[in-house]
This record gives sequence, structure tokens and C-alpha cells, in this order.
Amino acid sequence: MKRLQDNASIVVAAHRGWKSEYPENTLLAFKEAMELGVDMVEFDLRMSKDRTVVVIHDETVDRTTDGTGNVRDLTLAELKRLDAGGWFGRAFEGLKIPTLEELCELLQAYPNVLLNVEIKSGPDAKATADQAIAALDAYGYLSRCVFTCFDAEWLGYIHDTYGLKTQGFPEEVMHNFVSGENGTYSKMWAAGISMKLLTPQLAKRFEDMGVQAWSYCPDDDEQVFYSLGCGIRVMTVNDPLPALKIRKLV
Ligand code: G3P
Ligand code: CA
Repeated sequence: MKRLQDNASIVVAAHRGWKSEYPENTLLAFKEAMELGVDMVEFDLRMSKDRTVVVIHDETVDRTTDGTGNVRDLTLAELKRLDAGGWFGRAFEGLKIPTLEELCELLQAYPNVLLNVEIKSGPDAKATADQAIAALDAYGYLSRCVFTCFDAEWLGYIHDTYGLKTQGFPEEVMHNFVSGENGTYSKMWAAGISMKLLTPQLAKRFEDMGVQAWSYCPDDDEQVFYSLGCGIRVMTVNDPLPALKIRKLV
């Protein structure tokens, strides 16, 4: 976690893996990002019908697999039958939706990589958080983790119950946000600010409250330099190449 407090360098976080080049949230996308040299990987967690935590962004499997239906209505066996790579390109056919357990196994080879663990909002968010935190703890990974959730209730739950680091969002994004001194801002360790919202003033507002300002997703040189100009050090990116290149220069 030291690097997250080191203002001298950019911390590059790969959003759903190396998302611009590989099918998002697959083990291949995470492995390639980590081999490239990112500092952190970000991934999204949901629960299968038979209560296994799996790595997938959307509520349904429709966009990122060859199947249809809600993730929470499909068993792990049903999810594992789906192709999670072909939608991105024929070269990726045969890739599967990973379980959190499988991702944890892969992460053993990259002990210095930090983890941004997003608990997807919805009826399974609490159970997903509890199960994910237990699994990550069993691997000894919690000190590498920052937990993200767009639902202020479950972000607060993770902060209050487990005392873990959290990334929340400005109220413009987090619609049920509870702001103010005793609200969710006080439960946020970092604030994820989209490039559409990012201004130096907004970043400063969080930094002044002791909340790290992060940006997502500065994917070209101009956006990386703009983020730097706003005082941002942690950048969650779809394409790590521009930020990694500029990290060497600053
Ligand atoms: O860290 C912010 C990023 O995760 C944005 O969320 O779920 O749209 O990828 P998402
Ligand atoms: Ca995410």
C-alpha cells in the first residue's frame, strides 16, 4: 500500500484487466496487464445462483458471453459453459468467466500488485462482500485491497464491519450518496472520479477531506496529463500503455 501514499509516481490500475486489448474480467486480461507492469488490477464481483463469487461486470451475461440471462439466476456450472472471449474476437474464444478463487490463484504469482475489488450493487452485494472478503483474507490479500462499491450502503458496511480501505464516488455518480462529515465521505479512503467529472476543484475537495482522488479512465496522453494536473496519482485505465509511459517521465 506504500505506493498509494507515494506522491512521486503514478499508480496505474488496469480496469477489468487490460480491457482495451483483451476480453474484460478474464484471467488473460489480468495476467497480461500484470505482465505489462501495472501496479493494480480492478475487477468486478457478483454471485452465482449457487453462491459462488464470480468475476463479471454486468448484471447479465449477455454482453460479455455467448449466453443470456442474469448472473444471479445461473449456477456456476451454467456460467462456466459460456464463452467469455469470443465476443471480443475470435482469437479469444474459449475463455471462461473466472471465479474469485481462480483469480486469487493467479494473483499468487504477482504479490506486489494491488487489488481494487468492486462489489457490484444489487440484492447479493452484502453476501458477495462477505464471501469475497473471507476468500481474499484466506489468501492473505486484504492488505493489498481497496474495496469499491457504487452503493453507499454496502461501501459503508465494508468500512464499518471490516475496517477496510474503500473507494467511493462523488455524489453525482453515487445516487444514494450520504455526504458530509458523518456521512459516507468519512467512510471513503479514495474517491473515483470519472474523466467526465474531473476538475482540479473536485479533486481538491476530496484531498482536502483526506480522501485520495483517483481518476477513471484516462486512456490517452492528454487525459493522463490532465489527471496529473488535477493532482491525481492513482489512475484506473482501460489501456495502461499511456499512463505507464508517462509514469517513467514524471
Ligand atoms: O474504479 C472505477 C471503475 O470500476 C468504474 O466502475 O464498474 O463501471 O467499471 P465500472
Ligand atoms: Ca468496476
